[in-house]
Amino acid sequence: MAVAAQRLGEIGESDVPRLTVGIGELDRVLGGGLVPGSLILLGGEPGIGKSTLLLQAASSLVRGSAASATVLYATGEESAAQVRLRAGRLGLLLGPAAERVSILAEHDVGRIIDVARAFGPVTLIVDSVQTATTDELDGPAGSVGQVRESTVRLMDFAKSEGVAVILAGHVTKDGSIAGPKTLEHLVDAVVNLEGEWFAALRVLRASKNRFGSTEEVGVFEMAEAGLVEVADPARAFLVEHATPAAGSVVAPTMEGSRPLLVEVQALVTPATYGNPVRRASGLDQNRLNLLTAVLGRRAGIALGSHDIYANLAGGLVVSEPGLDLPLALALASSLRDRPIAPGTVVIGEVGLLGELRGVAGLERRLREAARLGFSRAIVPQGRRDRPTPEIAGVRIDVAETLRDAIERAFSEPAGRSDAVPAMLG
Ligand code: TYD
Ligand code: MG
Repeated sequence: MAVAAQRLGEIGESDVPRLTVGIGELDRVLGGGLVPGSLILLGGEPGIGKSTLLLQAASSLVRGSAASATVLYATGEESAAQVRLRAGRLGLLLGPAAERVSILAEHDVGRIIDVARAFGPVTLIVDSVQTATTDELDGPAGSVGQVRESTVRLMDFAKSEGVAVILAGHVTKDGSIAGPKTLEHLVDAVVNLEGEWFAALRVLRASKNRFGSTEEVGVFEMAEAGLVEVADPARAFLVEHATPAAGSVVAPTMEGSRPLLVEVQALVTPATYGNPVRRASGLDQNRLNLLTAVLGRRAGIALGSHDIYANLAGGLVVSEPGLDLPLALALASSLRDRPIAPGTVVIGEVGLLGELRGVAGLERRLREAARLGFSRAIVPQGRRDRPTPEIAGVRIDVAETLRDAIERAFSEPAGRSDAVPAMLG
């Protein structure tokens, strides 16, 4: 058969059909729901909540779709009884899931696909790719060959049957999914569930999405009855302090189209021996090193002989350059052991010369800060064509340089806890 190319203008505007999961934060990250015929990889460290989210998604899918719609949940990690136990804990046994979500305790991909063909589910879930095997290969479950081949076969199934397939994948400590980064280019979307096991908050983020943006994040909280969508993500990562804390700076960041307020924390102590420690978690290590150098050379804040620890509260990971200035001020605040006045937010990129650069979407960020009770912002000078916004209730301190920003930050007494805005009190 001859293969014909189509002129761009001839190609119809076929909207990508979507299967809404019905969990808003998940649909948001997927780009509006599951695309039939697509293969999605849900990555995350063991114990982070992948199986929980998938079972909740299965239940929500059948609740929201036609009465004939079913979901097949194949698990190579747990027995059917174990999955039932979790479903009970999640309160799913009383809903439509009891009838229309089926559990298949099976690791052989060939058999999973046979059952799925017979079943005709709207979505097939395979938990996890590390336990999936195909009989054509000899390697053990979890080996690169097995993981790849299993993924390829599930992809073929998804495409040929028009069924959305979701694969759970354990991410190893260094961040790769079962070693094979190679999986990522096979699948249509890679969605990661992140968080610290000791903290309740979970962030869902797409690192690849053929059918949507990779900018949006979803925020959940791991609770007694599974993952709960966080109603007001903007404030979810803020921590309450009884009294103003030295080394803490609140920054209005953006994750996709969503403003999130985060607390940057720094601890600076004289190094005791050897090379000083420089440790960043949730923040870019290279930026920390660079800011330490810039603070020394351009703002007279010498940290060369200090151990430095920096992190984002709540286990969040943010990489935007706008966190430079909050981090720099947190370092200065910790070194001086002087808190920055409560009710202050800080945002801006710092250059090598100690100059400050503006961030995109400043107005939205500051509006959100105002909504959450913040009354003062330290920000860089806007460009001439992008003047500094005016926000009711927020005093905006425009800083020219890093040195200037530091002076402004400490120009006001930090006050006591009664000066903390209502939301922090
Ligand atoms: P799980 O979904 O099994 O993680 P994964 O599949 O990514 O390995 O979730 C594991 C953790 O979540 C487990 O330590 C218990 C906790 N959890 C809750 O706190 N609440 C719940 O309702 C459920 C089901 C699990
Ligand atoms: Mg699991």
